[in-house]
Amino acid sequence: MCGIVGYVGNKDVLSVLLVGLERLSYRGYDSAGIATLAQGELFVRKEVGKLRTLGAALEGKPVRGELGLGHTRWATHGAPSQENSHPHTDCSGRIAMVHNGIIENYHELRQQLMREGHIFKSDTDTEVMVHLLERYLTPELNFLDALRRTLKDVRGSYAVAIISEMLPGSIFVARQGSPLVVGLGADENFVASDVAAMVGHTRDIVYMEDGEMAAITKQAVVFYNVAGEELIKQPQVVEWDTTQIDKGDYDYYMAKEIFEQPTVARSVLSRKLGPGGLINLGDLGHFSKADLSKVTRIIIQACGTSWHAGLVAKYWFEKYTRTYTEVDISSEFRYRSAILDPSTLVMAITQSGETADTLAGIREAKSKFLPVLSICNVEKSSIARESDGVIFTEAGPEIGVASTKAYTSQLLAIYLLTLYLAQVKWTLSPEEVQTKINDLKTIPGKMEIVLAQNDQVKRIAQRFAHSRDYIYIGRGFDYPTALEGALKMKEISYIHATGYPAGELKHGPIALIDEEMPVVCIATKGYWYEKMLSNIQEVKARKGMIIALGTEGDDNLARLADEVIWIPPVAEDLAPLLTALPLQLLAYHTAIKLGCDVDQPRNLAKSVTVE
Ligand code: G6P
Repeated sequence: MCGIVGYVGNKDVLSVLLVGLERLSYRGYDSAGIATLAQGELFVRKEVGKLRTLGAALEGKPVRGELGLGHTRWATHGAPSQENSHPHTDCSGRIAMVHNGIIENYHELRQQLMREGHIFKSDTDTEVMVHLLERYLTPELNFLDALRRTLKDVRGSYAVAIISEMLPGSIFVARQGSPLVVGLGADENFVASDVAAMVGHTRDIVYMEDGEMAAITKQAVVFYNVAGEELIKQPQVVEWDTTQIDKGDYDYYMAKEIFEQPTVARSVLSRKLGPGGLINLGDLGHFSKADLSKVTRIIIQACGTSWHAGLVAKYWFEKYTRTYTEVDISSEFRYRSAILDPSTLVMAITQSGETADTLAGIREAKSKFLPVLSICNVEKSSIARESDGVIFTEAGPEIGVASTKAYTSQLLAIYLLTLYLAQVKWTLSPEEVQTKINDLKTIPGKMEIVLAQNDQVKRIAQRFAHSRDYIYIGRGFDYPTALEGALKMKEISYIHATGYPAGELKHGPIALIDEEMPVVCIATKGYWYEKMLSNIQEVKARKGMIIALGTEGDDNLARLADEVIWIPPVAEDLAPLLTALPLQLLAYHTAIKLGCDVDQPRNLAKSVTVE
C-alpha cells in the first residue's frame, strides 16, 4: 500500500510533506520518512512507527529543503524497520526514491545488481529500483531515459517519486498500477498518491495514467508516455472542503464518522430522490434503462466492509428485482474464471475506489467485454474512472480505517439502485416503490434515535471488553450485519470475533459457547424473527451471554437477553441501515476501553492498493 507525497515550491517543504503524510496515513503507518534537497544536498530521515515519531524526530533535528518527498509505509517486503523504511537511496547516496506498489521480479534483479557490486541496505523490493536507476545514470543517458530503462526492467506495480543531487530542482515520477496525482500551483507543484495530501494548496489536479511519467519543477510539470514523448494533459478542478477532514469535537475520526451518518443519509436522500418516485442515481454512463432491464444476473465483487454491503445487496436485488445475484470477494473473483455472459451485470463496491483486487476484478470483467457498474465514494479514483457507470455514495472523506459512514452510504445507494432496477424491470409496482421510498426517508431520523443510545452501548462494551472472543449471529437481512459487526470488533479492538448466519450455529460454532462468550444476536422484527428467537434460546441453553439487538418494544427478546440495544420499528428490509450503527459503537467503545488506536489499528490500512 503506502502513500507518497512530493513538493517543490516556496512553502516550508517539511510542513507540506508532514501534513500531506498525515492525510495519507490511511494508506499505512508502519513507518514514515522524508527526503529533501537543499542547495544540491540530499537529506533523508525516517522512523519506524506512526508519523508522530518522525514528526518528533524532525522537531528535535529539522532538515532544510527546497523540495522533497515523503512516504508512509504499509510493510509488504521486509518488516517495519528503519532500514526498510522509505525513502531508499542508491549506493552513492545521491538519489532518493519513494514507492507505492510491489516489484514482483525484485529478487532476480537484486541478485544481478549485487553481482555488479551494488550494496543493498534493506529487504525491500523498492530498493532494486533505485539501484537500477543508479546503474543507468551514465553520461550517455539523461535522467528521464535512465528512469525509462529502469521501469522497463521491473515487473509489478508502482507509483514512484525520485529526487537526486544530479538534478536538484526536479522531482521525477512514474505510475504503473498504483495511483498518482499531480497538483498544479503558482510557482509550486505537488505529487501524491491521493489529492487529500494537497488539500488546502491546490484544486487543479492531473490524474496520471499507467505508463506515464512526469518531471516536476517549481515552474512546470512535463508529462511523458512510455516512449518518452511529451504528453499534453488537462488538469481537473477538484472540490474539497477542508472541514471534512478535521476531527471536529471528536477524539477520533471513527467517532465523528459514526455520528455523521444521519447527516450523510439525509443529504444523500435529498440529492438522489425527486418527486413522484423519481430516483436520480447520477450519471450511469453506459447503463441505459433498456440495458438494465435486460440484466438477468448480477455479480458483485468487493472487499472487506464493501463485500458485506454486497451481501445485503443480494437480499435486496433478489427479493425486489428477481435478479439472480452472486457476491464475490474480489481477490477470488479476479482469478476464478467466473462465467460472464452479456446478460450479467458486473458490479464493484468500494469506498476508496483504489482497492487493488477490486480494480483487478473490474479489469477482468472488461477484458471479457462486460461493462462494470460501480458504487464508489471517491470521485476520480481509479475504479470510478475505469468503470462504465458509477453511483457515488457521497459520504464525504472517510478517514478512520474502520469503515462506518461509507458502509451505510453504500447501503443507501444500493437500496436506491434496487428500487431503480425494480422500476425498469417492473418487478415492483409504482405504489410499492413509493411506499419503500417513504420508509427510506425515515431512516436519518431513526439513525439519530439509535445513536442516542451511545451511553448504553458504551456500558455494554465496557462490561464485555475483556472477553477473549465474540460471536455475532443474524438471519436474512440481519446476517450481513452480523459479519460486519464482527469485522468492526476484530479490526479495531483485536478481540477475535466471528459472524455467522444464526442457522449455521449448530453446525460448529455452538461448540464455542460457554458462560464467558458474548453472543451478539441481531433479531429485528420481520420474516426471520421467530427462527432467530429459537437460535437465541439455543445460545441461552449453553449459558452464552446474550447481547440482543432488536426492535423497540420486543419484550420477549428483552427477557431472553443479558443486555439489549434497540432500533426503532422499521420496515424489515431497511434494518441493516440501523443495526450497523450500534455495532460500530460497540466496537469503538471496546477498543477505547482497551486503549487501542481506533483510527489506525495495527497491521491495517484503509486503502489496500496491493493484492
Ligand atoms: C480495507 C479497509 C476496509 C475496507 C476494505 C475495502 O480493508 O480497512 O475498511 O472495507 O479495505 O476497501 P474499499 O475502499 O474497496 O471499500
